Amino acid sequence: CGIVGYVGNSSRKAAGHSALDVVVEGLRRLEYRGYDSAGVAVVADGAISSRKKSGKLSNLISELEANPVPESLTGIGHTRWATHGGPTDRNAHPHLSDGGRLALIHNGIIENFAELKQELLAKGVTFESETDTEVAAALVGDIFRTQLNGDGGNLTEAMRLACQRLEGAFTLLAVHADQPDVVVAARRNSPLVVGLGDGENFLGSDVSGFIDYTRRAVELGQDQIVTITADSVEITDFFGAPAEGKEYHVDWDPASAEKGGFNSFMEKEIHDQPDAVAQTLLGRSDLDGKLTLDEVRIDPELLKQVDKIIVLACGTAAYAGLVAKYAIENWCRIPTEVELAHEFRYRDPIVDSNTLVVSISQSGETMDTLMAVRYAREQGAKTISICNTNGSTIPRESDAVLYTHAGPEIAVASTKAFLAQITAAYLLGLYLAQLRGNIFSGQIKDVLADLNKIPAKIQKILDNAGPLRELARSMKDEKSVLFLGRHVGYPVALEGALKLKEIAYIHAEGFAAGELKHGPIALIDDGQPVFVVVPSPRGRDSLHSKVVSNIQEVRARGARTLVIAEEGDESVKDYAEHVFYVPETPTLLMPLLTTVPLQIFAAELAGAKGYDVDQPRNLAKSVTVE
Ligand code: G6P
Repeated sequence: CGIVGYVGNSSRKAAGHSALDVVVEGLRRLEYRGYDSAGVAVVADGAISSRKKSGKLSNLISELEANPVPESLTGIGHTRWATHGGPTDRNAHPHLSDGGRLALIHNGIIENFAELKQELLAKGVTFESETDTEVAAALVGDIFRTQLNGDGGNLTEAMRLACQRLEGAFTLLAVHADQPDVVVAARRNSPLVVGLGDGENFLGSDVSGFIDYTRRAVELGQDQIVTITADSVEITDFFGAPAEGKEYHVDWDPASAEKGGFNSFMEKEIHDQPDAVAQTLLGRSDLDGKLTLDEVRIDPELLKQVDKIIVLACGTAAYAGLVAKYAIENWCRIPTEVELAHEFRYRDPIVDSNTLVVSISQSGETMDTLMAVRYAREQGAKTISICNTNGSTIPRESDAVLYTHAGPEIAVASTKAFLAQITAAYLLGLYLAQLRGNIFSGQIKDVLADLNKIPAKIQKILDNAGPLRELARSMKDEKSVLFLGRHVGYPVALEGALKLKEIAYIHAEGFAAGELKHGPIALIDDGQPVFVVVPSPRGRDSLHSKVVSNIQEVRARGARTLVIAEEGDESVKDYAEHVFYVPETPTLLMPLLTTVPLQIFAAELAGAKGYDVDQPRNLAKSVTVE
C-alpha cells in the first residue's frame, strides 16, 4: 500500500499547497504500490472529512470532484493493495473511530487483530469493515477517548499505547479532529519516511510521496512513532523515549519518474535500460580492470572465507539471482544457491558465518525478502543487498549494499531494475573473484570491457524492435505461450514468461530446454507459440547445438517457433518462423540482451489487448506483507 501525510501552515496554503492537493499528488506517485482502492481524510472546521473509493485513484478523484472536502492544512491519504477484506469502498482506508473524530490509514498486517476486535466488541465498539485496519483505528480511538480522557494533544500518546498492543507489521498514520494540525505515524516492519519542508512536513511510504515538494528526507527506525506539525518533527520509540532519525538528500529528479513521451512507464523503463546498465557500472572499476566496490563494507578477509553463497529474492529479482548463480560459480568457484525468500526462511536452511547471503530487491521493502535476510543474519551469515532504492529497509538491515542505479521504477512489472540487478550481481561476482584471486585480472578487464559495450547493444535492440512489435500485436488472442532456454537462457525464459503472465494475463511457462523431453513437450500442439532463447554459437559448442535440436523437436510437433539468437547465427533460420537477433556478446552476459525482446513483446501485446501495462490487476510493485 501507499501512504501519504501532510501538515502545512497558512503561508504554505497561501502559496497554493492545500493538504488535499499535496496528498492526492503523493498518492498519484505512490499508486504503483497498490491500486485496489484509494482514500483521503482532511481535518477542517473541527471535524474529519473523509472520502474513499474502490478501484484506481481516478475513481477517488471523481468522487472528490462530485463531493468535495473543505480546504485544510492537514491530511492523510492511502492507496491500497488488499489483504484483509476485498477491494470494496467499505474496506478502503481511511477507517474512522472515536465517533468519526479520528481517521487512520495502514500498510501491513496486524496479526492479532481478531483478539483485539473481540475485546473492543465487548466494550461496545462497532465495526463496518472486515479489515484489520479498522481494529487499529478503533484501538487508537478507544485509548484516546477512554484511557486518556480525550485530553487534547494526546494522539501521539494514544498511538504509542496502541502500538504496544499491536503485533505484526504496520505503518499507521492518524489524524484527529481535536488536534487539527498534527499527523501521527507509527512504523514496525513497514516502510515510512519523513519529508522536511519549510512551514510544512510530509510523510510517505517512500520519497516519491513528496518528491515534488522537498528533497530532504528522514529515515525512521523500527518501532518508532513520529509526530509532524507544519514546523516540527518529533520521533520517539513506542514507549516515548526520544529517538533520532537520519536525514538524507534525495538525489533523483521527479522528471525521471514521468513517462517522458512514452505511452506507459513500462515502455519508458524498457527504453531506460541502456542508461540503467551504464549507471550501475559507472565508477566501480578503473581502466586497469580493478574493481572498487567501496560500498561492500565487509572485511575482505571474511569474504575470502565464504564457502557458500545464497541468493534470496522474489519474483523478477529471483530470476536475476539465477543469472547471478551461473556467473558467480563460473568466476568465483563458490557454490551458489538461489532461493525464493519466502521458501528459505521456513525450511531450517543451513547457514553459518561462512555463508554470504546476497539479497536482491528493487524496492528494498519486500517483506518476504526482508524476513529472510533477518533470519540469515541471526544465523550468523554476512549479508549484502543488491537494491535500487536508497535508504530502504533491506539495505539498512544488511551488512553491506550494492545499489543498482536504474532510477525510479514505477511500472509494476520490473524491467530496467532486472537488468541493473544482473549487472550489479556480475560486479559482485567479479569483485569476489578479484579478492579471492580466482581469475586473472586480465580476464576481469575483458569482462568489464564487454559489460561496458552492453548499453549500446541494448539500444540497438530497442531501435530495431519494429517486426517484434508487429508480431506481438498479431498474437494478442493467443491463450498460451511457452519459453525455452538453457544455461543463462533458462532464467531469461522464466522472466519472459513472467512478464507475459503479469501484464497480458496470458498463460505462459518458462522451461529449461533440456527438460522439454521430460514432460512439457506434451503441451506442444499445432500452432503452439514457443519462444526459444538460443545461446551464442561461439560459446560452449554443445550448448548451442543442443538448443537448436530443441527448436527442431518442438517444430516437428507443430509449434510456431519464435527464436532469439545472436547476430550472424544462420543455423536457426531454417527452423524458426521468426528470428530476432541480438548483438554478439559472451554467453554469461547474454541475459542483458536476450531479455529485452521478451520485455518488448509482453508490453506490446498487453498494450494491444488494451490493458493497463503499468498497473496489472491483482499485483503491487512492492509487497510489504508476508
Ligand atoms: C512484486 C512485484 C514484482 C517484483 C517482486 C520483488 O511481486 O510485482 O515485479 O519482482 O515483487 O520485488 P522487489 O522490490 O523485492 O524486487
